[in-house]
Amino acid sequence: MTIKNICCIGAGYVGGPTMAVIAQKNPHIKVTIVDINAARIAAWNDADLTKLPVYEPGLAAIVGATRGKNLFFSTDIDQAIDAADMIFISVNTPTKTYGKGKGQAADLKYIELCARNIAKVATTDKIVVEKSTLPVRTAEAIKSILHNTGNGINFHILSNPEFLAEGTAVDDLLQPDRVLIGGENEAAINSLATVYASWVPQARILKTNLWSSELSKLTANAFLAQRVSSINAISELCELTGANVDEVAKAIGTDSRIGPKFLKASVGFGGSCFQKDILNLVYIARSYNLHEVANYWEQVIIMNDHQKRRFADRLIKTLYNTVSGKKIAVLGWAFKKDTNDTRESAAIYVTDHLLNEQAHIAVHDPKVPAEKVYTDLNYLNTRTEAENQNNVAVYTNAYDAVKDAHAIAIMTEWDAFKTLDWEAVYSTMQKPAFIFDGRNILDKHTMEAIGFEYHAIGQ
Ligand code: UDX
Ligand code: UDX
Ligand code: ADP
Repeated sequence: MTIKNICCIGAGYVGGPTMAVIAQKNPHIKVTIVDINAARIAAWNDADLTKLPVYEPGLAAIVGATRGKNLFFSTDIDQAIDAADMIFISVNTPTKTYGKGKGQAADLKYIELCARNIAKVATTDKIVVEKSTLPVRTAEAIKSILHNTGNGINFHILSNPEFLAEGTAVDDLLQPDRVLIGGENEAAINSLATVYASWVPQARILKTNLWSSELSKLTANAFLAQRVSSINAISELCELTGANVDEVAKAIGTDSRIGPKFLKASVGFGGSCFQKDILNLVYIARSYNLHEVANYWEQVIIMNDHQKRRFADRLIKTLYNTVSGKKIAVLGWAFKKDTNDTRESAAIYVTDHLLNEQAHIAVHDPKVPAEKVYTDLNYLNTRTEAENQNNVAVYTNAYDAVKDAHAIAIMTEWDAFKTLDWEAVYSTMQKPAFIFDGRNILDKHTMEAIGFEYHAIGQ
């Protein structure tokens, strides 16, 4: 089947950039992205392209070039579903916060709502593509809903997990290592492969069965997160022995079997995927009574929680065992650079810990607005919203955030932090002036020459 009309349900960090690139590379296909969140759709339609709800380098230009031509954003979900030959489900699948599997299993209620919605309104045959990360065998549930509640039309279900990383989404989409399509019906698989073949070489389009595709997504994220936890585990050992974790990472990364990527020690990984997907893998393994498998992967999360906690503890200990009443500047709130996404960001947990010790926190992030900082802290429910408001200040300017601070904690590796006027920063801080570099982006010798007490990860 030749695809002429695509609908994507979910206008978030995955759906938005992915569909923008599909539209750009397939001018003959009409792509409509729908969402129940009207404010989000309005932001995607904003004439001012700096107001798009997702910040990604290069994205605004693509949206600007395609929007209104063959890329549309709408809240009319039913109409878009029925008009489409192919429907991507790209809604969020957060970890369950209630009931069975609370804190571990993926909450599939949004996916199920989508499937029921498709079944209700579709009057012509559809290919339904799972784009969101889903536990293995979710396709079965979607299939069952579609076949049992639909209007007697044909549905083909495909799994097409997205591997883009935030901050580099556009580049990742334009030049993917691979595109993975899992399914049972060859014609349906080929229809989707043709959409990607507009810009992705055939050899990079992998075709598997449904379950391999679903499991590959969870496994890829688990392996990536495991590398970060592995190097972070070594970082703690480095701090006590005099080894330097960046030197160790370089030395092991030159082994072609290990490879150099994803070996950057840090204050801990964040983002919407790693923790959620590993918890999900752990939950699935336990549900099959594979306790050794579950415990093995769970350790990646335990290590990551330890790394965040240890960073905060080290800061407190170095500041003479108390941060009570002290101003601590937190530079960076996003979970990595070049994104405005803060989901599971280490900054949230480190700040929460410092607030428990009665610190006064001054946050600056180039792309995260103040409301988001407060929402993230309030969501933890550790203290009242008024207390968060009183003890946390958010600054749009880094120099205001660091003024009179006892310490700076660098939480995100934004390039702008490397080129701050560190001499000027030093002159406005309390002395001794401490830097805790949670991303190892600054040079120890340069910082010490200015006068800072500089502490990095794994050094
Ligand atoms: C290893 C290291 O590779 C080498 O760099 C170091 O100097 C010594 O230890 P070696 O033990 O000789 O070398 O062999 P290696 O190829 O690493 O295999 C180790 C074991 O892992 C073998 O039993 C091998 O069968 C197994 N293995 C390896 C797997 O089961 N799967 C793999 O993908 C790779
Ligand atoms: C990840 C996967 O990379 C992507 O393929 C998948 O589709 C979604 O999940 P994302 O979470 O957007 O992408 O960003 P990623 O670059 O993987 O970083 C995740 C976290 O790990 C960030 O907090 C990052 O700072 C941290 N990280 C990454 C490290 O601490 N060290 C590293 O070496 C790499
Ligand atoms: P991701 O990182 O997976 O893209 P986001 O939370 O950024 O996750 O985006 C998911 C989007 O899906 C949100 O904008 C949300 O409003 C939307 N969504 C969730 N459920 C539905 C639904 N049943 N119908 C339409 N949109 C939905």
